[in-house]
Amino acid sequence: MPIIAPSLLACDFANIQSECEMLNASQADWFHIDVMDGVFVPNISFGMPVIQAMKKHSQKPMDVHLMIVQPERYIKEFKAVGADILTVHYEASTHLHRTLQAIKDEGMKAGVALNPHTPVSLLKDTIRDIDLVCMMSVNPGFGGQKFIEHTYTKVRELKAIINEAGADTLIEIDGGVTSENAAALVEAGADVLVAGSFVFKSKDPIATIAQLKGK
Ligand code: DX5
Ligand code: ZN
Repeated sequence: MPIIAPSLLACDFANIQSECEMLNASQADWFHIDVMDGVFVPNISFGMPVIQAMKKHSQKPMDVHLMIVQPERYIKEFKAVGADILTVHYEASTHLHRTLQAIKDEGMKAGVALNPHTPVSLLKDTIRDIDLVCMMSVNPGFGGQKFIEHTYTKVRELKAIINEAGADTLIEIDGGVTSENAAALVEAGADVLVAGSFVFKSKDPIATIAQLKGK
């Protein structure tokens, strides 16, 4: 059964507390938190004070996805506001290995996100040091976009790299996840499904989360 990580980017920001309580009461496993800086991606979301507010009402691990340039500048700060998993983009990290070590030194799990154009083979030399690969199945920056079908091929390729290395890296799919593609993604090798609009824009988010979970 996949780990379900609803993305709070699609939640009602005027009611963060009740949105967090809904997730606490649901079968969601993690909170997925999207941080955008308007430089790495053409959108600005939110930063530390908002994450702190979410953390206050969250009873589940906080999976923080940084869509920012030079993410290594803020590792301690994200730990301080409650990140349990901290994911940086491959494309934004000149010294990826050093950044992964710094995240782990703070006691967090270390993730690497890949844009749709970035080949998974680039992770061969670091895969044993990566706890989670966040595979973007849309171009990062916005919720509610259409799922890119080529993602299935990349998931299978990445799974082979992980198995070959004997690593225990989790594969997370981020963008355009719905009940239409969830089962096929898990079948291809996905361990974690992120879903923003499909969960928060649905009539019954708790039932939608259960549906993604496969129950
Ligand atoms: C996109 C973000 C995603 C986004 C997913 O840049 O990384 O986490 O919130 O939203 P949906 O599920 O609506 O595609
Ligand atoms: Zn994300």
